Amino acid sequence: MKDAYPYPVARIGLIGGGQLGRMMVKAAKRIGCTCVVLDPYPMSPAGQVAGHQIIGGYHDPAKLRELAESSDVVTFELEDIDTDTLVQLEREGHQIHPAPALLATLQDKLTQKRFLQDADIPTADFEEMPEADPEAFAAFGYPLVQKARRGGYDGRGVSVMQTENDFTQHLPVPSLVERFVSAKKELAVMVARNRRGDCRAYPTVEMCFRSGENVLDMLLCPAAIPEDVASAAEALAVRTIEALDGVGVFGVEMFLTEDDRILVNEIAPRTHNSGHHTIEACITDQFEQHLRAILGLPLGATDLLTPAAMINLLGDAGSDGRPVINGMSAAMEIPGVCLHIYGKAETKPHRKMGHVTVLDRNIEEAQNKAERVRDLITITGEQHP
Ligand SMILES: Nc1ncnc2c1ncn2[C@@H]1O[C@H](COP(=O)(O)OP(=O)(O)OP(=O)(O)O)[C@@H](O)[C@H]1O
Ligand SMILES: [Mg+2]
Repeated sequence: MKDAYPYPVARIGLIGGGQLGRMMVKAAKRIGCTCVVLDPYPMSPAGQVAGHQIIGGYHDPAKLRELAESSDVVTFELEDIDTDTLVQLEREGHQIHPAPALLATLQDKLTQKRFLQDADIPTADFEEMPEADPEAFAAFGYPLVQKARRGGYDGRGVSVMQTENDFTQHLPVPSLVERFVSAKKELAVMVARNRRGDCRAYPTVEMCFRSGENVLDMLLCPAAIPEDVASAAEALAVRTIEALDGVGVFGVEMFLTEDDRILVNEIAPRTHNSGHHTIEACITDQFEQHLRAILGLPLGATDLLTPAAMINLLGDAGSDGRPVINGMSAAMEIPGVCLHIYGKAETKPHRKMGHVTVLDRNIEEAQNKAERVRDLITITGEQHP
């Protein structure tokens, strides 16, 4: 069998220039690939590292075509893309992974839930709501969670309603409603599957949220759950990606219910915030793994080398403009702290500006250190509106 790769090993066409893309470009360069990034904003976080960016939107057929024609394999770091164009490009012979049809299924939360239901994968019961109607919501029954079919991320596009009085917070868009899940914990499993169908899961992580906020507050690996629960979560995540026939890396978000059932919440057809710790804490990180998967290379080992806690660094609520990283050296003084700054030219309230992974042989100690880092580092902007 042929095993010789000319340099560049592959030209990767990457849709989306954000932090996930930036980390993927770094991994790509390490293994001898080059990248071209499609993003509407010049000097995007990924574009800076790639050194080659096409300026254009993710829904612009001409720009998507230009990207495909400049690369050997096309992939993406976000879901909000014109899939009709991707389907057409794939038909013409361009390699696109994960597959455009799979992206189309997952980018609509309703078709995603139907896929889970049809594949017999446990998930919260749901119903389609073409428009937000108080009677239909009441008939479904509270407490419920309304989710916009399209365009939501970081909890935008999700409204939790405990009673019918909360209907005032409904989203005025085509949506679905699902049962509110009383969860002990929220878990996530990153899964990689390559073009040969080999499939590997990363160790289950625990996602901690601050009450009332949907954005991830801290991630812990390993999750504080019994080993058999972790294995069951990993097996369920693998089954989900096999049912999808997915190629690439996927994030499978799950609930561990009060009565110890595991339900799939949602699937991200891309690298994911809950896999950031894999850069330092696992043998093969999620970004290199994704590239291995889509390039038809063997998958790398997913073993955890050391426990890890990860926090996102969000833009300060009261300022914007050119970012200032406060408390950086105090945080870096703590042993095991790995700092990532995404290279965004401007901070905005709650914008993801970076993350910190803390490694420690003891997971509780990693968590304590991450909490200290969270208190030490703030990202403020030079402007105070
Ligand atoms: N059925 C549910 N029951 C209880 N809580 C839920 C339910 N669905 C979602 N949530 C809460 O809302 C959060 C965000 O929901 P979800 O992951 O579906 O949306 P999202 O906007 O795609 O999020 P993200 O981009 O942050 O992953 C979940 O992590 C969970 O905390
Ligand atoms: Mg989510």
